[in-house]
Amino acid sequence: MNRRRFLRALPGLAAGALITPEIAQAATQLTVGSALGVDWGLAFADQEGDVAPTPMKLVSGACPEGLAGSLYRNGPGKFRRPGGSATHWFDGDGLMRAFRIRGGQATLTARFVDTPKRRADAAADAVVTPGFGTVGKGGAAATSADDDNAANIAVLPMGGDLWALWEAGSPTIVNAADLSTLGVKTFRADLAHRPFLAHPSREPGGDIWNLGMMGKTAIVWRLGADGALISADVIDLPCASYVHDFSATRRHLIVILQPLIQDHAAADFIDGFTWKPDEPTRILVIDKADLDSRRLYDLPAFFAFHHGPAWAEADGSIRFDACVSPDPGVAILGGREVLRGDWTPRPPPGLALITLAPDGGAKIERADIVAEFPRVDPGVAGWPRAFTIHATGDGGGPLFHGLAVHDWKTGRSDAFDFGGAHLVEEAVFVPRPDARGELDGWLLAPSVNTAAKATELHLFDAAHVAAGPICDWRAPFALPVGLHGAFVAA
Ligand SMILES: [Fe+2]
Repeated sequence: MNRRRFLRALPGLAAGALITPEIAQAATQLTVGSALGVDWGLAFADQEGDVAPTPMKLVSGACPEGLAGSLYRNGPGKFRRPGGSATHWFDGDGLMRAFRIRGGQATLTARFVDTPKRRADAAADAVVTPGFGTVGKGGAAATSADDDNAANIAVLPMGGDLWALWEAGSPTIVNAADLSTLGVKTFRADLAHRPFLAHPSREPGGDIWNLGMMGKTAIVWRLGADGALISADVIDLPCASYVHDFSATRRHLIVILQPLIQDHAAADFIDGFTWKPDEPTRILVIDKADLDSRRLYDLPAFFAFHHGPAWAEADGSIRFDACVSPDPGVAILGGREVLRGDWTPRPPPGLALITLAPDGGAKIERADIVAEFPRVDPGVAGWPRAFTIHATGDGGGPLFHGLAVHDWKTGRSDAFDFGGAHLVEEAVFVPRPDARGELDGWLLAPSVNTAAKATELHLFDAAHVAAGPICDWRAPFALPVGLHGAFVAA
């Protein structure tokens, strides 16, 4: 579809209607995606600009009454510049998206986070800033980690604002209404620019905990529900692992220290780590009330980006789920390949349940189910629960083409497969307004439909995933695939 035809195809744009530069740029990116030469290339294409609020077409089903609010999502959206490009998926500029549902209708908006990194790269017409897996071109005068902050991993709703999260620097505050950037969050002057992971742990109705990784030490952040700083303590760790996510019960923080160890200097971040498969994955359990009170468990080496919230059993055992791989290749090497348009098949991550016994024993049980992006009902985070929501379906290429809910009590997986044309993003649980327990709600998940060259939004009954979507909306363009999101009810 050429640009003229694309613009005509936009719904609601009658002759003479305003065609914004943003919408025109969305059209341009279609050709960039196909230039990768693979059917999944659209998911890793460059988005050339912001996207004004655009109606999505309801292509099947009907939106249920009671569902109203915004699904905010973040993820890298701009990778390539004429003078030099990002060399890892995780180093694209943060693109915030808002899927807004109201009165049964959906719209899609996207806006780049206005970071010093994006400004420096744009001014140089090259990716000059280093990142997770990008060396950069030098010449960027970094004075703090936030000069390299891509603000591109996740989003944390906070009061009426959004925090766009990276992991090696500060949250970036974004206006929820128009996705404009308000500035970097500084909790206290002496804590400016310190690392703040992209996966904070929010206690239902309570505090927010997070880590900031600094080699063999970490900051333990404790914030109130309103985001105000309660404490920031530096703790020592047994090893300098790569930590992207952590877990927590109501009483404990659980830090998974996989044997991907930072042990040498490198021009980008992740190349300073060495995978040591003969060393254990160490699991550090820290008492929230006394950070010096700790237990350490060992398991045979595994790699995981993501873990579900943990819970304590009546006998004192701690359990949590994880999406585990035999090594970090699928994410670290694969994240480079997708920007080049090639892909090496590797074992996909699989769902696992980890149990830490009071006697010091640890075990990992693998469910033999492809799984990434685990999510739960946020109302049961830290409490005993039965279910893990996750992306699934390995098509031999990057990402996933299905959704599932796994029941740990029965071992049953309730799954739906969209087919290989869809690259399905993380599903977010949305409780019904009168929800009475786990899974009483919906799942909202976008996908990049590579056949239709469009971003879609799918709604499921969380308790009946295999029945297929309740309804699907389609945007008149495709955005690059996103990483993590959160729903805010209207
Ligand atoms: Fe993540």
